[in-house]
Amino acid sequence: MYNTKIVAFESYLPPRVVTNEELSGMVDTNDEWIRTRTGVSERHVSVGETVSEMCVKVADGLLSKSGISAEEIDLIIVATITPDFATPNTACLIQKAIGAKNAFAFDMSAACSGFIYALSVADKYIKSGMCKNVMVFGAEVLSAMTDWSDRSSCILFADGAGGVIAQASEQCAGLIAEDLHSKGEDGLKLTGGAICIDTPFFDNDKEKQPYFKMDGRAIFSFATRNVPRSIECIIEKAGIAKTDIAHIVPHQANSRIVEAMAKKLDMPIEKFFINIQKTGNTSAASIPIALADMYGEGRLKTGDKIILTGFGGGLTWGSILLEL
Ligand code: COA
Repeated sequence: MYNTKIVAFESYLPPRVVTNEELSGMVDTNDEWIRTRTGVSERHVSVGETVSEMCVKVADGLLSKSGISAEEIDLIIVATITPDFATPNTACLIQKAIGAKNAFAFDMSAACSGFIYALSVADKYIKSGMCKNVMVFGAEVLSAMTDWSDRSSCILFADGAGGVIAQASEQCAGLIAEDLHSKGEDGLKLTGGAICIDTPFFDNDKEKQPYFKMDGRAIFSFATRNVPRSIECIIEKAGIAKTDIAHIVPHQANSRIVEAMAKKLDMPIEKFFINIQKTGNTSAASIPIALADMYGEGRLKTGDKIILTGFGGGLTWGSILLEL
């Protein structure tokens, strides 16, 4: 029986940085409000780079770090809500760019839980014996879906890409436990990118809704209520203690959400990785970007048990307990 070992981590942030000061010149806000309410100081935004272009940079890094060749990749999964096209999917664009000619490739849409869902799917292909090397990406150009005149949301969202190579291993315990949920009935509390049906057959008089619309308080309480429960659930499923967990890597939505999670779980905040101050909320990209940062800082050690936890649009949420 094979398990899922993560053998490479990589991320890419577009070079254009937008500070809170710069946003204060665009909408009625200020650095102090943004930092104290969200934890964000600055964010990266694309000046034309698409999700697939950012992912190709990540993919090149993953291949060179792992020593795995593009032909050895069996599957490419991209979690994103901002693909370059509806078709071809982003994963196929990456496949072409890197020459992963033996892979099959598809995108997944689960907003800020996207990377968790995608890693869960990769794990099943690995456990079934069907795939040996799987590239899993989370990547977004949320700036394209952000209303830059809405101060309640434009302060949060940002762009970036991250990815891992998940490999079949007989040595590593890999994905030990997981807990995945969706609650479609609350989905309209966070929407974005509505398709507008306006054709010769149908004259649409509804307002176009390309941008994020969010009930911030509802999302905040949804996250602080459900995510700690999900983390407790996988710790219980795995039969381990909270002290056995080396790190919790949460979706970077708001540092106050992470602080509330730590408090509810009665775990030290130092166990929770936070890099939102420099990334903002990059939806599906935030967890793989965080992992790449942690790896780069030497924080991830072989044998560590870590928990990844994502939550957001759908509404969706989920947690994974991984042994590295
Ligand atoms: N700058 C200054 N003031 C702002 C502001 C901004 N950027 N945005 C909102 N305000 C004002 C509001 O108008 C309101 O003013 P009022 O009291 O005069 O009506 C006040 O600040 C408080 O607004 P509120 O919406 O209650 O703030 P909040 O503490 O809930 O923080 C969010 C707002 C969006 C930061 C917070 O709700 C949040 O992070 N929610 C989760 C969102 C999220 O994570 N979404 C993605 C999910 S993956």
